[in-house]
Amino acid sequence: MWAVTLVRASTLVPDTTTAPAQANYSSTEVRPVATIDCTSCLPEGETEESFSRNALNSMSQGLGGSQILKIAGEIKALQAQGTEVCNLTVGDFSPTQFRIPDSMTDGIGQALAAGQTNYPPAVGLPETRKAVRDLYERDLGLRYKTDSVIMGSGARPPIFATVALVVEPGDKMLFGIPSWNNPYYVHLSGAQAIALATDAASNFLLTADQIAPQLEGVTLLCLNSPLNPCGTAYSAQQLGEICDLILTENRRRAAAGKRPVMVMYDQVYWMLCFGETQHHSPVSVRPEMAPYTIFVDAISKSFAATGLRVGWAVVPPALTPRFKALIGHMGAWAPRPAQLATAALLQDPSAIRRYHASMKTAVEARLNALHQGFSAMAEEGLPVRSMAPQGAIYLSVKFDMLGRNLGNQRINSDEDIRAFLLNEAGLGVVPFQAFGLEQDSGWMRFSVGAVSVEEISAGLDRVRTALRKLN
Ligand SMILES: Cc1ncc(COP(=O)(O)O)c(C=O)c1O
Repeated sequence: MWAVTLVRASTLVPDTTTAPAQANYSSTEVRPVATIDCTSCLPEGETEESFSRNALNSMSQGLGGSQILKIAGEIKALQAQGTEVCNLTVGDFSPTQFRIPDSMTDGIGQALAAGQTNYPPAVGLPETRKAVRDLYERDLGLRYKTDSVIMGSGARPPIFATVALVVEPGDKMLFGIPSWNNPYYVHLSGAQAIALATDAASNFLLTADQIAPQLEGVTLLCLNSPLNPCGTAYSAQQLGEICDLILTENRRRAAAGKRPVMVMYDQVYWMLCFGETQHHSPVSVRPEMAPYTIFVDAISKSFAATGLRVGWAVVPPALTPRFKALIGHMGAWAPRPAQLATAALLQDPSAIRRYHASMKTAVEARLNALHQGFSAMAEEGLPVRSMAPQGAIYLSVKFDMLGRNLGNQRINSDEDIRAFLLNEAGLGVVPFQAFGLEQDSGWMRFSVGAVSVEEISAGLDRVRTALRKLN
């Protein structure tokens, strides 16, 4: 009855002490006759590592988990021990700082009470898809058919679907670094990464000059604005130059009967632009880009709703049947109650405006507090500089500390700087290396969704004291 040849015999002894009492079951109910311990099952002679290597495919072998979540886990453990840490690591919101719009809370409750708990259509509820369509026309000036909107559980499934549908194994996928998660999608698709390191001079955004010599053979160009991890955003001119390049390349490829370069434009932070910064997209700056642009978007960041899992792709009409098919098979659908509440919110511009009047102000206050604090330190001669925030929930800060010493300990790497900030100043941050940058640069991402302005000021005081200790 049991697969004794595959599972260690020691794990198969029925555990009568923990077996559930039988008396409470009716004769027709499924019930265990014993508890079988599978918590450490392995075939004879295998270790966990060898079995994982044998049982799973070669793609799985190099697949790593998120470095950011690893760092965040370390901080949670420190906090659990009672250490005061200003946690600026994960790109998420703490509900103690940022709530979703009240109308979403009410809408989800009402949908559940009304029994909206069955499968949604695989591509999304018609009213939610239409609400996204209407939002794009109303606020971005982009008119699509509702059919172009493919819903998913957050932005990740639309990203996964885009990569899976555009990129053949071995194709080139081009993106800037630092950037969020692109290397993982490259790995999943078997693509060849063309990862171009950007720098502070271009706000860590790709430039047309950088892309031009690398475009040969590229099938997917991944752009994100406002940018995670840097909090910077493309200007119309910067983006227009890139689009001109793509349009020229695609005309050349069409004439040669070759596949075009497609652009995945991840704009999950587009509603969170600050000050003078305007959001632009490939299609808004060059309408001829419409057939080549796949938008990826979500409510996750704009409405502090990362846990509700509502996202979407907006795709050129010719590509929708394949997206629908893939999303349908993936089953990564947004939950029906959250979709209904999203539809109502997106169709209510004044509710969105009211929400953002406080939410965006609160994000900006935190980013500005950090930026001003670090700028003041720079003026005092401390080895730090930060970039003015333009969008998203992130600030880029450079610590010019490589080669400096704390006591008799030399700071040699970004990891040393990260550990210094955590241990000496109780500040949890993520080095740009977690976003694909190979060399140590001193640049760190500060994410503000989980902290108050007061925690930030206290953290800044601690950093100032710590930086003064360097020699
Ligand atoms: C640029 C970017 N795109 C997509 C996502 C994923 O969003 P979601 O939580 O909706 O899957 C993130 C999350 O951090 C992000 O930073």
